[in-house]
Amino acid sequence: MTQFPDNFLWGAATSAYQVEGQNSYCDWWEWEKRIGLKDSSGLACRHYELFETDFALAKELNHNAHRLSIEWSRIEPEEGKFDAKEVEHYKRVLSCLKDYRLEPLVTLHHFTNPLWFSKKGGWRNRRSKEYFLRYVRYIVEALGPQVRFWMTINEPQVYLYHGFISGAWPPQEKSLFKSKQAESNLIAAHIASYRAIHEIYRRNNLAAPLVSFANHMQSFVPCTSSLRDKLAVKLRNKLFNFGFLEALLRNKALDYIGINYYSRSLVELHSWWPWSFFTDTCNQNHHPLPKNSLGWDIYPQGLYDLLLKLKKYDLPVIITENGICIDDDNMRWEFIRGHLKSVASAIQQGVKVTGYLYWSLIDNFEWDKGFGPRFGLIEVDYQTYGRTIRESAKKYAQVCQNGKIE
Ligand code: BGC
Repeated sequence: MTQFPDNFLWGAATSAYQVEGQNSYCDWWEWEKRIGLKDSSGLACRHYELFETDFALAKELNHNAHRLSIEWSRIEPEEGKFDAKEVEHYKRVLSCLKDYRLEPLVTLHHFTNPLWFSKKGGWRNRRSKEYFLRYVRYIVEALGPQVRFWMTINEPQVYLYHGFISGAWPPQEKSLFKSKQAESNLIAAHIASYRAIHEIYRRNNLAAPLVSFANHMQSFVPCTSSLRDKLAVKLRNKLFNFGFLEALLRNKALDYIGINYYSRSLVELHSWWPWSFFTDTCNQNHHPLPKNSLGWDIYPQGLYDLLLKLKKYDLPVIITENGICIDDDNMRWEFIRGHLKSVASAIQQGVKVTGYLYWSLIDNFEWDKGFGPRFGLIEVDYQTYGRTIRESAKKYAQVCQNGKIE
């Protein structure tokens, strides 16, 4: 049995576009329709209207924290025109969280952009940092009194990979050069936002905020002992797991480290072609592991290994996402239990983990994969929008209540 520290944050995460519904000023909304994506987000989970129902369930499940995101395209549907009604909506969302004693962790950018911003070239535009910062200042002034934990950008590397390397997501580019351009703007946007958020809190006499971003980390494991596979693992760790993180640390622009962890990536190169170093993985299912319904390897050990690598930065760490899409709900519980054991072992080794947020509170729109993959602690019926608590959620609720894992 393992005991977690007092005041540990226990809860789950969501993102606006995946749950709210009707985000029609957003680039994804336009893109889904233009390319004819199999499922379009549409009403999503109707969380925009049903947030109170969802938070009541989170409370019933003994959560004490909840991660959510603000949809930029709602706040600023047209360039420079801010919608005060939408700000009021998010104020109501945050006061509802407060009523249920759920500590909010608020993300400012979770993969989606306002359509006007994308039309200007999105994150490749030299002024993208300024556009983002204008929105950040506006929303943080308004919501500051209700929020302590901020996250600027969700998984910049995943956004860059799908948007600019694999081309699976908008803006569907396949160019290392364009990806690097967007990356440097995202880094600059985070640093400027970090400073702006702190300045706003000081000016408004609010207790200091805690600002970070959500860093997606994968456990890269070489498939063979060849030099080529080992080099590729080193490269991917550097670029994908630690690149953005270390750039922000060098600029003293992180108050804690948020990490999103899902899976192992078995790295096996099929050629010396430079592109292979970024993309090739084992396609023979060597070293097999149980998988989720999207075929991702389940590997709790990887979370432990990565957490230990974060120890040297000596900052609090919050697991801002960790989850599984699966039809067999017993496997969901085993996934949660296995990963919590890794977290507990890392804490015993001196890593300052202060929270765990399961992805996701409710089933939701899984981007280009649509509504098929089920990640939720709570099942959503997309015909009736009814919610049903899963058994795994009840087991996790006991951990949240007792702060202990058997
Ligand atoms: C993202 C979520 C996504 C989840 C499962 C994370 O990469 O932040 O938006 O739904 O993984 O794929």
